Amino acid sequence: MNYLLYTSLSLLLLAPAQFAQTAPGKPVTEAEKAGQKLFFQRCSVCHMGTYPAYKLYGPPLYSDVIRTKGDDAVRTKILDGSPTMPAWKYTFKPADVDKIIAFMKTMTKEDVVRESLARGNAEAEEP
Ligand code: HEC
Repeated sequence: MNYLLYTSLSLLLLAPAQFAQTAPGKPVTEAEKAGQKLFFQRCSVCHMGTYPAYKLYGPPLYSDVIRTKGDDAVRTKILDGSPTMPAWKYTFKPADVDKIIAFMKTMTKEDVVRESLARGNAEAEEP
């Protein structure tokens, strides 16, 4: 009984640590966590490692990139898209876009590269 309890307790303690090692970004707030989910559903296919099918299609997105561009420019790009990026204004409410932006600000370049490498994209460092 004690053994079982101990085992389940240590599993509980270990699981988040293992997750933290591989999951990119460090979402803390509910908004950042919701943004992470949306990002992985809708954005990571182009903005994180996708090798061997093709190299990173869109540029890597992480805190420095978002802060340099500024929230407004990033929001406009997400809503309107471009010839090579889909527009999301028919998909997302403005609040969802803000959550994705909040999540992207939790990622470092290393997070994106590590996740891309984990997905088998050895060229992630030179997208
Ligand atoms: C079909 C592939 C594709 C998907 C899916 C996609 N993007 Fe993009 N994205 C691109 C490409 C290609 C570019 C570079 C060309 C451009 O800026 O229009 C880009 C550029 C961007 C930029 C500008 C980055 C910079 O440095 O200028 C942002 C911000 C961005 N995407 C956010 C997102 C978000 C957030 C999502 C998910 C909601 C998303 N993208 C989904 C392909 C995609």
